[in-house]
Amino acid sequence: MSATRKTYRVGIIGAGAIAQECHFPGYKKDRRSKVVAFAEPTIERHTEVKERFGKINGYSNYKDMLKNEALDIVSICTPNVFHAENAIAALNAGCHVLCEKPIATTLKDADKMIAAAKKSRKKLMIGFTHRLLKGPQKTRQFIQEKKIGKPFMIRIRFAHGGPYPGWAKNSWFYNPKLAAGGAMLDMGIHAIDLALWMLGSITSVNAMARTIVKRIPVDDNALLQLEFKSGALGYIEVGWTSQPGFSGVEVYGTKGTLICDYAKGLQLCEGTASAGKDGSVKWKTLDKAPTRGGWDIEIKHWLDIIDGKEKLTMSGLAGRNALEVALAAYASSKDGKTVRLG
Ligand SMILES: NC(=O)c1ccc[n+]([C@@H]2O[C@H](COP(=O)([O-])OP(=O)(O)OC[C@H]3O[C@@H](n4cnc5c(N)ncnc54)[C@H](O)[C@@H]3O)[C@@H](O)[C@H]2O)c1
Repeated sequence: MSATRKTYRVGIIGAGAIAQECHFPGYKKDRRSKVVAFAEPTIERHTEVKERFGKINGYSNYKDMLKNEALDIVSICTPNVFHAENAIAALNAGCHVLCEKPIATTLKDADKMIAAAKKSRKKLMIGFTHRLLKGPQKTRQFIQEKKIGKPFMIRIRFAHGGPYPGWAKNSWFYNPKLAAGGAMLDMGIHAIDLALWMLGSITSVNAMARTIVKRIPVDDNALLQLEFKSGALGYIEVGWTSQPGFSGVEVYGTKGTLICDYAKGLQLCEGTASAGKDGSVKWKTLDKAPTRGGWDIEIKHWLDIIDGKEKLTMSGLAGRNALEVALAAYASSKDGKTVRLG
């Protein structure tokens, strides 16, 4: 950064878990930015922010923050249903916007956000942080380099014990009006985005999103079957009620296999795997720590995009595409039918 360039003035809307674990520290760590304000209705969060990140102007309403502070960048870390309203207001106020996933809760809202970004000529990025992990990055690179031939199957599984209690600052994740979905929207949206990013457009989805273990009014486990434009098939499994088990991405191709196991590493298997010919199979470890990156580098990546050093790929459109598949999955789950996408 040149000595004369001003520091980006950042505002954060929603000062809960992801704001405190990723956004506040990320901007603080980077010399190019300074968080000068945040908006958060809950008073305890104001105390936490002060204790953890020093004195920063706190507002209870984001509209007052946008009116009073001359901000360059806004991070949106509120419950899902508020993303669109917050993002559109921040874009209209002339700010670049980093919005947490999912982009919004309806496609209409996602479209309005994309239109607001275009109109204001500001950047809109969605926090698809799995794309910033070394393992998924290398997996995609190897797919693109045709190291496994033509991919015909992708399998992704993400699971943990659920966001609340333990992670989130309150139980909004389990409120359909605020979250608009359960484990499938929360964790599935990351998996769907990775599937789209790695294998391209999805043409149909068949899903089961169910509440099996927790007494909550949203789904706590879900399965998705996908068909890609390329002809490949996909399988996504997410849950809020278990150990992760296998966590990561498996991609099977005509000439090899990529297993990106978040706990064990990224491996490439080359050769033929047909019965009785196992001798020709070779396994190679490509990365022993595939979960390096992610939240730790998200804000640097975002500031690099604003500075024109990196391309914006986790765009509003990427957010919309993933949301379209997630909403189709809920429709499929409800009706018991396969949903075709345009
Ligand atoms: N990228 C990731 O991997 C990742 C991880 C966790 C959460 N998230 C996303 O981040 C968002 C926030 O999740 P969280 O885990 O931090 O939840 P959280 O409950 O810990 O934090 C949300 C905060 O928003 C505040 N809030 C509620 N309504 C508000 C409003 N109208 N204006 C301003 N603030 C408001 C709440 O008081 C709370 O402090 C969600 O969209 C979630 O999907 C993303």
